[in-house]
Amino acid sequence: MTCKRTLVTSALPYANGPVHIGHLAGVYVPADIYVRYLRLRGREVLFVGGSDEHGVPVTIRARKEGITTQEVVDRYHELIKNSFERFGISFDIYSRTTSAIHHQFASDYFRKLYEEHKFVEQTTEQFYDPQTGHFLTDRNIRGECPHCHAAGAYGDQCEKCGSTLSPEELINPYNAETGNPLVKKPTSHWYLPLDAYQPWLEKWILEEHKEWRPNVYGQCKSWLDGGLRPRAVTRDLDWGIPVPVEGADGKVLYVWFDAPIGYISNTKELCDREPEKFGPWEKWWKDSDTRLIHFIGKDNIVFHCIVFPSMLKAEGSYILPDNVPSNEFLNLEGDKISTSRNWAVWLNEYLDDFPGKQDVLRYVLTANAPETKDNDFTWADFQARNNNELVAIYGNFVNRGLVLTQKYFDGKVPACGTLTDYDNEVISQMGQVKSQIESLLEAFRFRDAQKEAMNLARIGNKYLADTEPWKLAKTDMERTATILHLSLQMAANLSIAFEPFLPFSSEKLRGMLNLSHEQANWERLGHMDILKAGDVLGTVGLLFEKIDDAPIQAQLDRLARIKAENEAKAKEEEMKNWHPADIKTNTSIDEFDKMDIRVATVLDCQKVKKSDRLLLFRLDDGMGERQILSGIAQSYPDPSVLIGKQVLFIANFPPRKMMGLESAGMILSAVNADGHLVVTTVSAPVKNGVQVG
Ligand code: 2FM
Ligand code: ZN
Repeated sequence: MTCKRTLVTSALPYANGPVHIGHLAGVYVPADIYVRYLRLRGREVLFVGGSDEHGVPVTIRARKEGITTQEVVDRYHELIKNSFERFGISFDIYSRTTSAIHHQFASDYFRKLYEEHKFVEQTTEQFYDPQTGHFLTDRNIRGECPHCHAAGAYGDQCEKCGSTLSPEELINPYNAETGNPLVKKPTSHWYLPLDAYQPWLEKWILEEHKEWRPNVYGQCKSWLDGGLRPRAVTRDLDWGIPVPVEGADGKVLYVWFDAPIGYISNTKELCDREPEKFGPWEKWWKDSDTRLIHFIGKDNIVFHCIVFPSMLKAEGSYILPDNVPSNEFLNLEGDKISTSRNWAVWLNEYLDDFPGKQDVLRYVLTANAPETKDNDFTWADFQARNNNELVAIYGNFVNRGLVLTQKYFDGKVPACGTLTDYDNEVISQMGQVKSQIESLLEAFRFRDAQKEAMNLARIGNKYLADTEPWKLAKTDMERTATILHLSLQMAANLSIAFEPFLPFSSEKLRGMLNLSHEQANWERLGHMDILKAGDVLGTVGLLFEKIDDAPIQAQLDRLARIKAENEAKAKEEEMKNWHPADIKTNTSIDEFDKMDIRVATVLDCQKVKKSDRLLLFRLDDGMGERQILSGIAQSYPDPSVLIGKQVLFIANFPPRKMMGLESAGMILSAVNADGHLVVTTVSAPVKNGVQVG
């Protein structure tokens, strides 16, 4: 069982932005630790990665940036690939789902299932924008929330009241990007009938994979308990892999159909390129001697445990995942990480801001890995773990052993003399660590495994503090030699124990100990004869450096800036989507009294550039001029009709900025019979600035 070859996949990140610490902690660091460990044990292993370049997220990014979708995926694929390399994620292949090999492979896969009647075809009514000629995905549809009546709720969720929605429930749905009203239009798609796989999935997961992590098992159980329904595997979109059957013009494979097939096509790409090293791709996907392990984040569980296995089962000749060690989420300074809100620590920026400190981030993300619950990354914790653990324990121990050896033994490993009980106790603790780390890693418990490695450094550090060889050197050179001999052996052991976790530091430490990878290989872990008396050490330097407050403060300042920008944007968004229905009906007289409603004359009114909804009003409010923005542009195609009119406005709202323009108050409008907003006015001229009440 343990001798089986292992195929490790890590979720293919969307090429719509750089990779962040949430991705790293959840997926790539644990996957990399695991494959490095398997390689060190001499197991046959293949580690597949790649960019997920289809789907709506990349098309949204392209429209936002005003470039083509291909340009978006080219840019982020390169950026992600390059940052993974710099960070030491040791993929055997990192490819992409826009490759010709993948398109062909995914297309063939679909066609095979289609020809074997594994799909059901269904026609449903979907929202369609007649002006752009596009069907819309749930996220691209907005409208009024049927529950809290907030404007601008999404087709899948209302961000104001948190309700899960379907686009059908929205009141007056419109295209989120153009603002165009939508109609329903029939469209046909192919569905994978997951309901048909339900009995098989129940047996395979709930009975045969009880060992899966509780979060993974629990999520699968709740999906299965809820009853599976057919899932569409095609979409009406112009970005993706065309559906390879006749009469499917304008349709592409759903991104969640093609992306997991990317694991297979990327394996094929590698095996075709390096057949001597990896053999035929089928060996990795169709031979029961291969264990398939998917590393993913928790939002991907259903796709990897239910949908993809059903696709593999439908095809019939593939192996199924052996385990899916999914993590929970990592938050950043108490808030959910978000690509669209720029609330993240981006890997490429980290690598630039902290050069040579890959292992610090690897260490912190593993020490804090969200294995069983969501966890929080804070810069204070990052600094503390570096300074108090990597520097003060691991680095300090190694450095003292090396420096004392240079000082007293001319940089040569001293001979080991008679051992005391304490020496023997330390040696025996060293002897246990290999099997401890191994069993934790085999069980995907990376955080605890790394703790064991750190524990070795703690033992070493305490050993030096207790035995004080720097004092003994004055009186007892033989004892000093023994202590340093053992300390150097422990340092050699540390370079091995940390190798899967902190590969850059292990290499550096081997250099200082003048050890080759072969001499310090995994099988030697726990042995106290890795170095020989008389061996000459290499050049000694610091294994880790203290991180002081300035770079940490710079990161905190950056986050504070982003938070302020996000708050301003949220207000702007709220105003853009402001709708009279937002006003609550149960206002008390006291609350009403707080509102300072007055009359003003419109001096000028114009559309705000680049905004579909905002009008910019210049008012005479009786005291002077006042500027207010109002989200009613769609009701006034010619806003000049408002010039000269007297309108009612709330004067005591704190000024805020929208689209870079200041707005001091709110103009009151009402909805007329055909759904248009009309400004409220007075029935006869009154003095500007007069209070209404
Ligand atoms: O959630 C995501 O970021 C997806 N791009 C993961 C895809 S995993 C696999 F199926 F390719
Ligand atoms: Zn709502």
